[in-house]
Amino acid sequence: MPDRSSRLHVAAGPPLRGEALLPGDKSVSHRALLLAAVADGSTAIHGLSSSIDVSRTLGCLLALGVPIARATDETLRVEGRGPRGLAGPPVTLDCGDSGTTMRLLAGLLAGQDRAFRLEAHAGLAGRPMERVVAPLTAMGARIRATEGRPPLTGEGGGLHGAEHALRLASAQVGSAILLAALNAEGATTVVYPAPVRDHTERLLAAMGAPVRWDGRVSRLDGPVAGLRPPADGRLTVPGDLSGAAFLLAAAALVPGSDIRLAGVGLNPGRTGILDILEAMGAPVAISGWRVEGGEPVGDLRLQAPPGGGLVAATVRGDLVPRAIDELPLLAVLATQARGLTRLQGAAELRVKETDRLAVMAEALGRMGADIRLRDDGWEIQGPTPLRGGAHLDGQGDHRVVMALAVAGLVAEGRTVIDGAERVADSFPGFVTALQGLGASVTVAAGLAASAAASAAPAPAAP
Ligand code: S3P
Repeated sequence: MPDRSSRLHVAAGPPLRGEALLPGDKSVSHRALLLAAVADGSTAIHGLSSSIDVSRTLGCLLALGVPIARATDETLRVEGRGPRGLAGPPVTLDCGDSGTTMRLLAGLLAGQDRAFRLEAHAGLAGRPMERVVAPLTAMGARIRATEGRPPLTGEGGGLHGAEHALRLASAQVGSAILLAALNAEGATTVVYPAPVRDHTERLLAAMGAPVRWDGRVSRLDGPVAGLRPPADGRLTVPGDLSGAAFLLAAAALVPGSDIRLAGVGLNPGRTGILDILEAMGAPVAISGWRVEGGEPVGDLRLQAPPGGGLVAATVRGDLVPRAIDELPLLAVLATQARGLTRLQGAAELRVKETDRLAVMAEALGRMGADIRLRDDGWEIQGPTPLRGGAHLDGQGDHRVVMALAVAGLVAEGRTVIDGAERVADSFPGFVTALQGLGASVTVAAGLAASAAASAAPAPAAP
């Protein structure tokens, strides 16, 4: 059990300098495991995320009978069971607090000849699931949520293709549909209201699936006879841009900072934070562009803006889904930026691990920020000095804890944040990475073990 009492202690300090290690991209890691599990043959996944969320997907696949073993310190080998190879007796799976695990597995299992029950821990139990249940039902799936929320129960098989015009710009929903489409008769189309991360489409294409997409519309012709492991049976997961974002924001805020992050995934559906940093006066230099596992990858460098510091920005429209997980950081940056920063059209933040609009407004308000909460965003007037001394609660939300830690780096005095152990949900090495850059961050007993485990690749598989 995680130790709910572990805390981060953060204080302002010297400029951040040097290079930090990132975990493997969380979104790509979930998809790499799921698709490797239904490929024809063996896939070696290199650099899988060591996050707790990804370990949930791994655990579910082991429970479904997929052979997964550690090949080297950095590599896991997944023995694919074929497109319909997750069939079997009824099974109950623990998705923990990982929404991606539950929503993507719902899609994959909808096409497998097997009854299933997907269970959630407290942090996921209240999150909306109708968004995947409705489109999967339209494909013939027999799947039910419990008053729109977890647990999900279902019986796989009997799917047909369908056209889906999504109301939400959600990669999880689109991906659940495409994973179901692998075993559906006929064409399935997903029309997104705005571009989102297209990791699933890229990986499906790399594994030979008949998928086409243009950023707004994705189409897969099912059923798919077989998925081949990517070229040479090896899949490299890029570094996690969403983890990198906390370090980049910290460097943008602390004067004199100069940091480098190598091998970061730069999927165009994820790079909104880079656009935001540039608009606020802290551009990220990208070098060494390359493609790994079908994903664009580059090396990043951020030097804190000299002189005048950050300026306010307006974030709305297509930029919102492209920065969805980084928006808590926008609030922190805005408190130190000259002018009025506006976030609009981001009501989705209310149904993440917490209501991130309300939780960030409350915590930053307590630190002295001038932040007004709107139905679908914030208005933040800056710059305002932030006060440490406040004892803050991350509310069990990994991205809130990390965003508040970044705020603590520019606050007066010491900031204490409860729930520090939750950073391991996505970025177990967060504290180590910040410390390595010279930040004054410490962790009370309880998180030390997971922080020290930052370099560990994937959770142990039997
Ligand atoms: C994710 C998509 C996003 C994001 C989440 C991961 C994914 O969620 O917030 O952290 O891996 O597909 P939505 O699809 O709900 O926007």
